Amino acid sequence: MNIESKLSTTSKNIKSSIIRELLKISDPAMISFGGGVPDPETFPREELAVIASEVVSKEYKFTLQYGTTEGDDVLKKQYIRLLEEHENIKDLNNDNLLITVGSQQALYLAGLTFLDEESYCGVTRPVYLAAASAFAQRNPKFISVNLSEKGIDTDYLESELIKLRERNELHKFKFMYVVTNFHNPAGITMPLDNRKKLIELAEKYDFIILEDDPYGALRFEGTKVPSIFSMNSERVIMLNTFSKILSPGMRIGVIIGNTQAIRRMAMAKQAVDLCCSPVTQRLTARFLERYDLFEQIKPTIELYKHKKDVFMKAMQDNLGDIKGVSWTKAEGGLFTWLTLPQQIDTMEMFEMAKKEKVLYIPGEAFFVDNPLKNTMRLSFCLPTEEQLVEGMKRLRRTIDKYCAAKGIKL
Ligand SMILES: Cc1ncc(COP(=O)(O)O)c(C=O)c1O
Repeated sequence: MNIESKLSTTSKNIKSSIIRELLKISDPAMISFGGGVPDPETFPREELAVIASEVVSKEYKFTLQYGTTEGDDVLKKQYIRLLEEHENIKDLNNDNLLITVGSQQALYLAGLTFLDEESYCGVTRPVYLAAASAFAQRNPKFISVNLSEKGIDTDYLESELIKLRERNELHKFKFMYVVTNFHNPAGITMPLDNRKKLIELAEKYDFIILEDDPYGALRFEGTKVPSIFSMNSERVIMLNTFSKILSPGMRIGVIIGNTQAIRRMAMAKQAVDLCCSPVTQRLTARFLERYDLFEQIKPTIELYKHKKDVFMKAMQDNLGDIKGVSWTKAEGGLFTWLTLPQQIDTMEMFEMAKKEKVLYIPGEAFFVDNPLKNTMRLSFCLPTEEQLVEGMKRLRRTIDKYCAAKGIKL
């Protein structure tokens, strides 16, 4: 049977994620700056093992049964407390929250709930690849807005919105998707004035802001910036996750938004998976009751900060002399974004990197249009200190070999 002839247009358009493909490379000699996965040593495994046993044996009527689509109320209560204590977000109730299978499902549900083929949605250049893929399932038109250390280019966004208004299409612009803290892949944090300007535009041109914040709690230095949601809880839908602060294997994400939006997204979720796993929801809830999560992640933050410092120094030592090279200085999170001289195509260079036994994600993967081919995403959280330094030497060797082969003078 020819399966190809039976495929939907959506399925035909889906490309396998290069990140997922890269994570499959399991050569122990390889040093990978590729995947943005947390260091497993940071998972509170002993504590979770004890609670897991308890919630299965004592709370089996809840944990081993189907749950509600909206999610475990005990977990929601704990999460509302965290938002009050750490984000200064008040007056939320359970109806403002939807528990999801990680933020990835939240992104998919946002696409399902708000986008049609004729819709427009705003994304950044570069954009978190899997968000763009989730939205692309609905085949919308993307408006791609530059992201720099100053935040997103709100002037450009406004000029595009004006064009839509002139064409009587403004109502088709549904949301602007932003990763506010320690952006994946760019490592950038949107400054406060940029966040405020985005809210101003959302009010003026009537659109939703989809604020994705998986890394905000992983700040090593600098000053915390208030979430966009904390400044406008009507227009902003915030996506959070336990993946980077507890464990991605739990697959617990939380959507926070106005009750109407949450209800609609919960209705979409019903047809996707009925409910999230009650086991991991209750396990997370009881963990939050028993332990202070933010105390627990302090050693993780210290570890990542240390790795980031080692990595930044190795980068300076090995790449600092290349003319036209630059990289972002993340104040938290897992990533930095490296820009090489223009003639270097990091996708083309990738095979050489593999031979040198170092991996990165070519920047090209993070654009919905006009990719900057001389860029790459580097993650510093998983390799050991020695690997961070050695990996950077290998990356420099790769760049030198590539440039020699292409006749590029550094
Ligand atoms: C910006 C961003 N959003 C969402 C996700 C999805 O995370 P999860 O589904 O594990 O919550 C990630 C994961 O790396 C991410 O970087």
